[in-house]
Amino acid sequence: MSLLIRRVRTPENPEQDTDILIEDGTISAVGADLDAPGAQVLDGTGLMAAPGLLDMHVHFREPGFEYKETIETGCEAAARGGVTAVACMANTDPVIDTPEMVELVLEKAGNANGVHVLPVAAVTCGQKGKELTDAAALREAGAVALSDDGVPLQNAALMRQALLQSDGLPILCHCEDADMVGDTAVNEGKVSEKLGMPGRPAVAEEVMAMRDAMLAEETGGHVHICHVSTARTVEIVRQYKKKGVNITCETCPHYFTLTEEALLELDSMAKVNPPLRTEEDMRAVAAGLADGTIDAIVTDHAPHSAEEKAKPLAEAPSGISGLETSLAIALTELYHSGIMTLKQVLDAMTVNPARVLNLPEPALKAGCRGDVVLFDPDEEWTVDPGEFASKGKNTPFAGLEVKGRVHGTVADGKVLYRYKI
Ligand code: DOR
Ligand code: ZN
Repeated sequence: MSLLIRRVRTPENPEQDTDILIEDGTISAVGADLDAPGAQVLDGTGLMAAPGLLDMHVHFREPGFEYKETIETGCEAAARGGVTAVACMANTDPVIDTPEMVELVLEKAGNANGVHVLPVAAVTCGQKGKELTDAAALREAGAVALSDDGVPLQNAALMRQALLQSDGLPILCHCEDADMVGDTAVNEGKVSEKLGMPGRPAVAEEVMAMRDAMLAEETGGHVHICHVSTARTVEIVRQYKKKGVNITCETCPHYFTLTEEALLELDSMAKVNPPLRTEEDMRAVAAGLADGTIDAIVTDHAPHSAEEKAKPLAEAPSGISGLETSLAIALTELYHSGIMTLKQVLDAMTVNPARVLNLPEPALKAGCRGDVVLFDPDEEWTVDPGEFASKGKNTPFAGLEVKGRVHGTVADGKVLYRYKI
């Protein structure tokens, strides 16, 4: 089976039409006017092509919370967002903490649409923060990283030990000191005061980011800080990278787009952990992306049901359904605003996360996997969660006008999603 994508442009070659031929799942040729008798043809005239996006932080909820999302619906959402590979977090029920559970995720993924699902396994058994999982066995089964994401790993001794025996896997750290954040819902500051609620202070994230940076330095293990949300966390990573420490990090569209003020208008739709912060933090996160301190843009796709999100702010679960808006928001907020080049934005959603996860570098080159996203960087549209394939309609971006639209998603040469092409 072969697929010929015709007349696309690329960020490297924006002035000239290029064809991409994918044969047996692999890109076999890239160039002008390729000939491929019998191939399925996708006309990409007027569109930009890039390697399929890799979102290294999503929650697909299966097993245990299928009413929020299944691996199948999550993969559909990914395809609509131009995402061809996802790293799936372990906070399911049961937790992904054994080789058998990793295999189960891979088996379910095999029945989905063809998006590549990369399981993340827990650092501690049951994410209980007491006993380490078996990194080597989990890696052998197919885990690409270890993480207790959703539940901060409070015990520093255990974190240190985890880094020493991670078997080369990165540890994706949810940095929030549990004692400092307690059961609160919003950033500690102006908005928590206005709402009369206790808050999650920025320093709760920063002390743990600092702890994990120091442990990465001391052990040589790979710390990857999840969903960076504060200016000082960005600065910690910047300094530790300068020292040559094995540390990487990511952020999400909501942290470079929204501030804590969004809670006042959007209530639980803007409730997320770590919480939305201040204007200064938001700008520092964007600057961290622009100067390469922050490696990856991820969604932390965290679907919840409408009933759950309708609860009062203090009780509603945290999280944002992000897969179907991430590219558009990144393009709007970072590229069209002039903060980053198109190539920088795409690198943060493709080659950089691949590097963090020690995966082959995605590229539109012969020999690379046939994963491609086709998009119009300039097309304007309005976010409508009613159109999401995800079961989670929980987004603070409903009604937002964005610039940049996915028109085609191809994984292993198979067309998973097309819009007006
Ligand atoms: O807001 C969040 N939701 N942050 C997390 O770390 C976990 C996630 C979830 O699983 O819902
Ligand atoms: Zn998460």
